[in-house]
Amino acid sequence: METNHIILETKDLCKSFGALRAVDLVNLQVAGGRVHSIIGPNGAGKTTLFNLLTGFLPITHGKIFFNGTEITNLPPHRISKMGIARSFQITSIFPDLTIHENIRIAIQSRTKSNYNFLTHFKNLKGVGERLGQVLEEVGLAQKADAVAKNLSYGERRAVDIGIALATEPNLLLLDEPTSGMSEEESSRIIGLIKEISARLTVVLIEHNIDVVLSISDVVTVMHQGQVIAEGRPEEIQENQKVQEAYLGGY
Ligand SMILES: Nc1ncnc2c1ncn2[C@@H]1O[C@H](COP(=O)(O)OP(=O)(O)OP(=O)(O)O)[C@@H](O)[C@H]1O
Ligand SMILES: [Mg+2]
Repeated sequence: METNHIILETKDLCKSFGALRAVDLVNLQVAGGRVHSIIGPNGAGKTTLFNLLTGFLPITHGKIFFNGTEITNLPPHRISKMGIARSFQITSIFPDLTIHENIRIAIQSRTKSNYNFLTHFKNLKGVGERLGQVLEEVGLAQKADAVAKNLSYGERRAVDIGIALATEPNLLLLDEPTSGMSEEESSRIIGLIKEISARLTVVLIEHNIDVVLSISDVVTVMHQGQVIAEGRPEEIQENQKVQEAYLGGY
């Protein structure tokens, strides 16, 4: 996978909620094929940034580019179709459906809206295969027929990631994917992130610093809506401003 071109870029991105600047002049560049983590104290603006990138919130100011195409203020379904998928900090699955059904819906929602006949045919054939792959990847193949609401919190989060992966994105945004997971579940998800980063770009919001240091190529640190540092994990670990932000933030 090509790793040097910029797949995602923001220019002076801002989001205000009344007087609060939740995202304040963020200029982010994510290179293809990387695991790029975004860290920062609670309330730093990380989830809001994801909401802007995916069209879930209107932008106050600034621009967003995906593979060089401007996507500023496009609706979520258009952005998703272009190849950006996300998982949520809170799971977004249908509680009364099985895991199998939840992921199938996600795969089909992508294929149905594709009007290119050849691709459509290929995708239809691929739905069953892809479904099996995704279930395997997120570690839920044995539980495919379980109804979502009966799963543990960690398992529901894994389904949520499976739903995001099901659409075969080029860019996957993960918001605290391991929160609420058992140690075993988290290490599976971390392994999965490493694995999928060979074929797609991952932007990861993560509080667990050990996870961040072990899997990131690049780390961006946000504090009060702004980017206060960016670099390789070992540079970030030593950064004075970052240490102060965390001390002040917690
Ligand atoms: N819809 C909203 N309306 C008003 N204020 C909001 C809204 N969403 C977020 N905020 C505020 O914006 C700021 C940034 O919130 P955000 O959820 O982006 O932080 P975060 O970095 O994801 O934090 P955490 O690590 O706790 O998840 C916070 O002060 C939050 O209260
Ligand atoms: Mg958040």
